[in-house]
Amino acid sequence: MTTNDIRQKYLNFFERRGHAILPSASLVPEGDATTLFTSAGMQPMMPYLLGAKHPLGKRLVDSQKCFRSQDIEEVGDNRHTTFFEMLGNWSLGDYFKKEQLKFFFEFLTDAGKGLGLDPHRLFVTVFEGNSEIPRDTETIEIWKDLFLRANISTPDQHIFTYPAKKNWWSRAGEPEKMPVGEPGGPDSEVFYDFGADLKLHESSIYQKEACHPNCDCGRYLEIGNSVFMQYRKEADGTLSELPQKNIDFGGGLVRLAAAVNHDPDIFNTDLYSPIIKEVEKLSGRSYLDDESKPSMRIIADHLTAASFLIKDGVFPSNKAQGYVLRRLLRRAAVKLHFLMGGREGIVKLAGITSSIIDIYKNIYFVGDDTLYVQGAIAAEIGKFEKSLDKGIKEMEKKAEITGKDAFDLYQNYGFPLEITTEILAQIGKTVDQNQFELEFEKHKNLSRTASAGSFKGGLADHSQTVTAYHTATHLLHAALRRILGEHVSQKGSNITAERLRFDFSHPDKLTEEQIKALEDLINQKIKEKLPVTRTEMPKDQAIAEGALAFFGQKYPDLVSVYTIGKGPQTFSKELCGGPHVESLAELAKIKIVKQESLGAGTRRLYLQFV
Ligand code: ALA
Repeated sequence: MTTNDIRQKYLNFFERRGHAILPSASLVPEGDATTLFTSAGMQPMMPYLLGAKHPLGKRLVDSQKCFRSQDIEEVGDNRHTTFFEMLGNWSLGDYFKKEQLKFFFEFLTDAGKGLGLDPHRLFVTVFEGNSEIPRDTETIEIWKDLFLRANISTPDQHIFTYPAKKNWWSRAGEPEKMPVGEPGGPDSEVFYDFGADLKLHESSIYQKEACHPNCDCGRYLEIGNSVFMQYRKEADGTLSELPQKNIDFGGGLVRLAAAVNHDPDIFNTDLYSPIIKEVEKLSGRSYLDDESKPSMRIIADHLTAASFLIKDGVFPSNKAQGYVLRRLLRRAAVKLHFLMGGREGIVKLAGITSSIIDIYKNIYFVGDDTLYVQGAIAAEIGKFEKSLDKGIKEMEKKAEITGKDAFDLYQNYGFPLEITTEILAQIGKTVDQNQFELEFEKHKNLSRTASAGSFKGGLADHSQTVTAYHTATHLLHAALRRILGEHVSQKGSNITAERLRFDFSHPDKLTEEQIKALEDLINQKIKEKLPVTRTEMPKDQAIAEGALAFFGQKYPDLVSVYTIGKGPQTFSKELCGGPHVESLAELAKIKIVKQESLGAGTRRLYLQFV
């Protein structure tokens, strides 16, 4: 069974059960200013999960193209990719837990209608409950029954329960992280067990425990997740019932193919092996060689992601989606450079895309796409190849790379720190990242002093500056949610005439690229001179229209809402008392000058006008 067969089988299986087949939406969300990429099948379905009527009915099925830049560091192992297809079936207030789990189990195990996987190899996880939402005993009972019917006499051994950290799904994660108005619910994941003989567990962090579905060693692969989406986050922090109970199912297409092949390496499936073969030819290395393997996987994933992004209209640039695409291509190029032993010709990377277009031909690509996709990649890598060679020579010349050197490489050759670090790792050197960041700060301070006093729009007086920072708070909040994701919510802020301090939920330190992307996005909006308007409306209406509310704050029934931009150009909408500027034309360019961790998943940024 090919992976294309699995996709088709899934669509047909659910079509026969009353579901309308939807085409995949674009990787670049349309009409959704809050996020850069489509990262889950449910994303284009949001309005319908919240209660809007879908024109094709209450049962839907699709295979959605997804891109997750946050997983970039994980790529290189046997199962992570930035690009993937998520199989999805939805019940919009129609069937619920019982039918969903039965459908999925049947699809997985039935050899005729589905994939014919051995039920003994399937393990499931269920939400164990918390102080607000009870343990999901209904789901446990359904799974027990399904396993018993499949002649598994000890179903309890196949069912694990976990807290919200593992078995609750919303775009933001656990209930505490959900912004107001966000839907979510408990979920139930299904894992495929490749068997103890694989020895993957030797590398696990759970060395002293028996392997289990949530161990990260790769023996158990998550192949599908049924989300019982029945809750919505309220402004007072509680969860309320949505007007309808929904099913949001997401299954990893390529992971299902790995299970069908009974091989835990997704790069051995037919979605990647033809690409790996091309990389082998180009580099003269073998995928069986453990040293080359991670690089080959990174190249195969990043080029696949790049081809799909270009097809969906993204072009390499220094902004937003374009910048992510640029990073993917440069990283793939660096990996190929070293696989090829430093020989010239990384631009040949572009040629590999014809194998990618072939794999997905007549599904996502047509033959004519080859020229366009290859042209875009060749142009980008061609430009990069020259600076890569020069940059590597400089690094090789020096016995030691200081933070200042790394900063110069960034200034002169456009190497983000991660590229420098990767190159240094290949040539057996390291760089002091803190020193690099200090240099980065120093540079920012210098340029700030140089432009001090050049405040645009005559914002000389103190109170006008403070007002401008108020508006910048909304810009930063909206930009963070776009660049980092919907899980970002404001935890606090503080404004002086000198700067804005902004606290928000996010687990990781922001990378230099993320900071740059934030600055670029905000400065772009300032350049567009978007209008800032205030309207009054009932609180419920404001929330329903997607206005952001400050978590934990009590609002009156009639609230004031500030909107930056108009119609489709709307960039931010927040409940707020003001005051704000009337137009972004009154704002100077901004810079993010510092970041700090406040612990427990909260970060702090300082922003200044320059
Ligand atoms: N929305 C769920 C996920 O992305 C199915 O895992």
